[in-house]
Amino acid sequence: MAADALFQPFSLGSLHLANRIVMAPMTRQMSPQGVPGEDVAKYYQRRAANHVGLIITEGTTIDRPAASMNINIPNFYSPEALAGWKKTVDAVHAVGGKIAPQLWHVGQARPDHNIPNPDIVSESPFGLTHEGIARGQAMSEEDIADTISAFGKAAKAAVEIGFDAVEIHGAHGYLIDQFFWDQMNKRTDRYGGDLTGRTRFGQEVIKAVRENVPADFPVIFRFSLWKQQDYKASLAQTPDELARFLAPLSEAGVDIFHASSRRFWEPSFEGSSLNLAGWTKKLTGKPAITVGSVGLNSDFFGAFRGEVSEKSDLSTLIERLDADEFDLVGVGRALLSDPQWATKIYEAREDELQDYNPEALKVLT
Ligand SMILES: Cc1cc2nc3c(=O)[nH]c(=O)nc-3n(C[C@H](O)[C@H](O)[C@H](O)COP(=O)(O)O)c2cc1C
Repeated sequence: MAADALFQPFSLGSLHLANRIVMAPMTRQMSPQGVPGEDVAKYYQRRAANHVGLIITEGTTIDRPAASMNINIPNFYSPEALAGWKKTVDAVHAVGGKIAPQLWHVGQARPDHNIPNPDIVSESPFGLTHEGIARGQAMSEEDIADTISAFGKAAKAAVEIGFDAVEIHGAHGYLIDQFFWDQMNKRTDRYGGDLTGRTRFGQEVIKAVRENVPADFPVIFRFSLWKQQDYKASLAQTPDELARFLAPLSEAGVDIFHASSRRFWEPSFEGSSLNLAGWTKKLTGKPAITVGSVGLNSDFFGAFRGEVSEKSDLSTLIERLDADEFDLVGVGRALLSDPQWATKIYEAREDELQDYNPEALKVLT
């Protein structure tokens, strides 16, 4: 089979995956009052039953009053929500799949006084947006400590419910990434300063998660160089800077890096064809997930503007996977619109694959 490399097993610690296909985390806002229902369980089960090796859930928020920005985003702390998540885990396991929750705090992406807690302002490293506009409040050391322990508590709950791994959302300009980014983190204490100082919050979150899960339970860390607030911003301009950014996170206890890019085929730096996952694996020695327009010809920002992405062939991806540039392959929109996407590839029915039409978001099943 041409796509053989995608369907090789992968094991790390207690996680054993049937293949290399990972469903990328995608927010759905379909959990009323933050509680995922039967439909959420079925949505993930449908993909797990169709040759998706690992599901990473939509972002699900930790136990902080300003962690969420929408009442329909699932939380990961109320007894009702955790009971809902347990049903999802059981549904995915019933068809032989594996699943990890993506633990999330949106930071300043939340407008002040937003639901579900309108009394509360947002929280962020410094209380200023990247454009210098005041929003929310700078987190005190106590806020930071409480947030770190809320991540730890969520990781513990994930193990108790039966999840197979956890992913920490450190990407895309949300709270952890706001700490990484000098434009938003002007702190002068140990959580600010140079690149290493700015990774300290992320490091402590990773350590807290690590301490609350068994030693062989994989901790996945998602990061991106780009920010949704400014697509041209980048945390690292050179491989050396990327190495300095990743080293403290890796040492804090990451098992797998999820290197979020918009187009997996683009080199991260001049002079090498390696993409972000490729560099991450090379620099840290840890397994890496690539992601970004797999199976499609244009990125997901276009999709948010209503543009259709045409399907594209997988040969470049498979060559790179075969060459061990990265270990796992994150698939977003293609799996959102077609639960059978991976089955069609497995059964060499590629001619049945469809273009991605953002209208799919309206009828998610
Ligand atoms: C509707 C939608 C919701 C998303 N929500 C999240 C999210 O909750 N957490 C996250 O890390 N990324 C999120 N993303 C980004 C995806 O995980 C993925 O990185 C991106 O869509 C690129 O993959 P693709 O080109 O295969 O779609 C979202 C993307 C889409 C399209």
